[in-house]
Amino acid sequence: MRTVLLGKTDLRVSIFCLGTMYFGSRTDRETSIALLDQYLERGGFFLDTANIYARWIPGFQGGESETLLGEWMKERKNRHSMVVATKVGFEMPGVERGLRAHQIETECEKSLRRLQTDYIDLYYAHVDDYRTPPEETLEAFHRLIQAGKVRFIGASNFRAWRLEECRWVSQTKGWSEYCCIQQRYTYLRPKPGTSFDPQVAVNEDLLEYCRIRGLTLLAYSPLIGGAYSRSDRPIPLQYQGPDTEARLQALREMAEKKGITVNQLVLAWMIYQDPPIVPLAAGSTLAQMEENYRALEVTLSEEEVHFLNEVTG
Ligand SMILES: NC(=O)c1ccc[n+]([C@@H]2O[C@H](COP(=O)([O-])OP(=O)(O)OC[C@H]3O[C@@H](n4cnc5c(N)ncnc54)[C@H](OP(=O)(O)O)[C@@H]3O)[C@@H](O)[C@H]2O)c1
Repeated sequence: MRTVLLGKTDLRVSIFCLGTMYFGSRTDRETSIALLDQYLERGGFFLDTANIYARWIPGFQGGESETLLGEWMKERKNRHSMVVATKVGFEMPGVERGLRAHQIETECEKSLRRLQTDYIDLYYAHVDDYRTPPEETLEAFHRLIQAGKVRFIGASNFRAWRLEECRWVSQTKGWSEYCCIQQRYTYLRPKPGTSFDPQVAVNEDLLEYCRIRGLTLLAYSPLIGGAYSRSDRPIPLQYQGPDTEARLQALREMAEKKGITVNQLVLAWMIYQDPPIVPLAAGSTLAQMEENYRALEVTLSEEEVHFLNEVTG
């Protein structure tokens, strides 16, 4: 599998990051392990989880995904060849929402225990916290990096101006900067004025910010839950904007001409951006993921990428 450098760091990651949000909860243990093995066979080594996954599934409290990854890495003896990303900041039973220093430090210890490791490769602030000074949050991350418990930090669900504020704090203090941003992103554009609160979707500002400041963009929910291809999953209202029909039609026509699926075209379009966007690839069956991995074999010409980028209503 192709790799890219994460932001301006020297950390190389797979171009498809495996989204493991439902592993060990909605996706049962056996299937989750098969999906991890399949990703490994494809040459992937970049895993995405969070302390809260998947606390909203009835009967679960969060921590199940990290626990399952920990067990799998132990069994496969591959911790040191994997790049493990996890996150802190959302509420879960017994944990408040926020990026206070004590929350970050306490949650980091719990994540390390569940993952059965002594370091996290990439630790994300999962959601912005306007009540905590960025100095407090970034200093806590800095201490974890100094202690060798975290290698790099990233942000998720932050707006561009906040990333710049944090970058300024990090530079002034000589601390690590957020090297990447994980945000909601797909080919369809949200209807103007749409809110996904507490999630934050990519906008033009953020794309430009990432290009200029050299942050890698990681796209979550790239396949909008399967809505591109499934009759049981309508395109969410939030994506039904003035250019939705035109963009869907462009995707369908190009996918048909190339003999690929729309899901594959969306994923290929992302990794063909300059700089490449890393999709969080996720599925609950081996067959879904097999289809998604075949996007890695798709080639797109500059004209095709440009054409897709430019479709408007
Ligand atoms: N930072 C954040 O705030 C945040 C938020 C959300 C997600 N994430 C990360 O991003 C990852 C992906 O998010 P997501 O699950 O929302 O992604 P998504 O790409 O929007 O949806 C994945 C779902 O789409 C369906 N699907 C996938 N491939 C398919 C295919 N080839 N054919 C038909 N259906 C297909 C499956 O639904 P079924 O399983 O129902 O069949 C699958 O579970 C997560 O695992 C997590 O790591 C981060």
